Amino acid sequence: MEKEVLSILDMRTNAPYDIPIENGAVRASDLRRMKAGPGDFGLMSYDPAFLNTASCQSAITFIDGDKGILRYRGYPIEQLAEKCTFLEVAYLILNGELPTELQLKNFVGAVTHHTMLHETTKTFLTGFRHDAHPMGMFISTVAALSTVYPDAKNVLDPEARKLQIQRLIGKVPTIAAYTYRHSLGYPYIYPDDDLSYTENFMNMLWKMVEPKYRANPVLARALDILFILHADHEQNCSANVMRAVGSSQADPFVCTAAAAAALSGPLHGGANEEVLKMLDEIGSKENVRGYVDKIKAGHGKLMGFGHRIYKNYDPRARIIKWAADQVFVATGRNPKLDIALELEKIALEDEYFIKRKLYPNVDFYSGIIYQALGFKPEMFTVLFAIPRTVGWLAQWQEMIQDPEQKIARPRQLYTGYDVREFVPIEQREVRATSATR
Ligand code: ACO
Repeated sequence: MEKEVLSILDMRTNAPYDIPIENGAVRASDLRRMKAGPGDFGLMSYDPAFLNTASCQSAITFIDGDKGILRYRGYPIEQLAEKCTFLEVAYLILNGELPTELQLKNFVGAVTHHTMLHETTKTFLTGFRHDAHPMGMFISTVAALSTVYPDAKNVLDPEARKLQIQRLIGKVPTIAAYTYRHSLGYPYIYPDDDLSYTENFMNMLWKMVEPKYRANPVLARALDILFILHADHEQNCSANVMRAVGSSQADPFVCTAAAAAALSGPLHGGANEEVLKMLDEIGSKENVRGYVDKIKAGHGKLMGFGHRIYKNYDPRARIIKWAADQVFVATGRNPKLDIALELEKIALEDEYFIKRKLYPNVDFYSGIIYQALGFKPEMFTVLFAIPRTVGWLAQWQEMIQDPEQKIARPRQLYTGYDVREFVPIEQREVRATSATR
């Protein structure tokens, strides 16, 4: 095949350049050859918020945002959600291939083996205030595991990486369940190895005095599907944090805590909690149009709407809507669904949202199911973080194994003062400071 090349004429010097195009991209470092004169650093690309910059090559997740396509390792999300368990998908995401029966059995066994928390970690959790936000507790506890497993520092050792991956996937539901029990003042429940990943999570959340917890199979399957949908989403804000922190060879526990911190923001995974607050604020179907008008007038954003990549219906939102119907058969219909459906209908017919290609994203319906399952909104982002841990770890592993990756260190375009003389304190005047802008 003929090589693809971008020919550029630098009008500053009249010098021509041929820049190779690979996988539909030019390398930003190739621009450095273009210098305005001797001593010039060379041309840089400027891309705040990475709107058009690929930071890595990845073979994990494919998204076509215009067509509303999401695939893990080539498999359409719809097929995985219908046919697989969450741990089967986790194996696929981490290893690149669907497991055989034996491989799955071994993987499930290894993850299940690591669901326990060290008793001192439990004590650590006890120290949080009773009203601590579960996401803050989750982030801190995952980071604290770094002190329990100092061997996690061996990030260049594949066997050590495998062990930490199994530990993290095994322990995040336990931590999540403990944050929930802590907020209610309930005693912690130990994991039960007989149960599946999601059933065991439900056991640790909701077991009371019964000798053996039995999960409602419809609800356990719905949670498993939600976990599959949330497992990875290529280079989103938190995956980028995972890779950036991991690029300094920090251990995967602190990297995962950093990624979870990124997820907690209301523009990322924190949006599902915000959606519920918004639906509460709207209150009834009749108030939806007025609320949408307020948003269009510039008062806030419609939470659970819009996406950096999807300019079409988020395929995950479609599957969640389907899963919601299954859950409501078992739990009764969440009355907020009617407000959400009306909101979606009005927004999708409105010129403001059509023009900006704003569609419901994964967070729009997930909160409604979570609430029907019995979770408080404060838990929603933690529920997102459990399965996303798999995606973060797969992204981290891929980054570590990529010979092209180095410590992540962006450039900047400096716009501050040129050098200036130091002013002694008695001669300084009050000036507007940049911090309060
Ligand atoms: N409600 C109303 N208007 C919106 C919304 C929204 N939810 N989202 C974007 N817009 C508008 C913007 O105001 C902007 O309008 P303008 O061109 O008139 O200035 C235009 O649409 C483009 O939006 P950007 O902010 O440039 O889009 P960006 O890609 O930077 O942001 C984001 C994506 C952060 C998801 C945004 O759509 C948003 O804040 N949505 C609400 C929060 C949310 O649901 N987040 C969850 C995302 S999914 C996830 O992280 C798991």
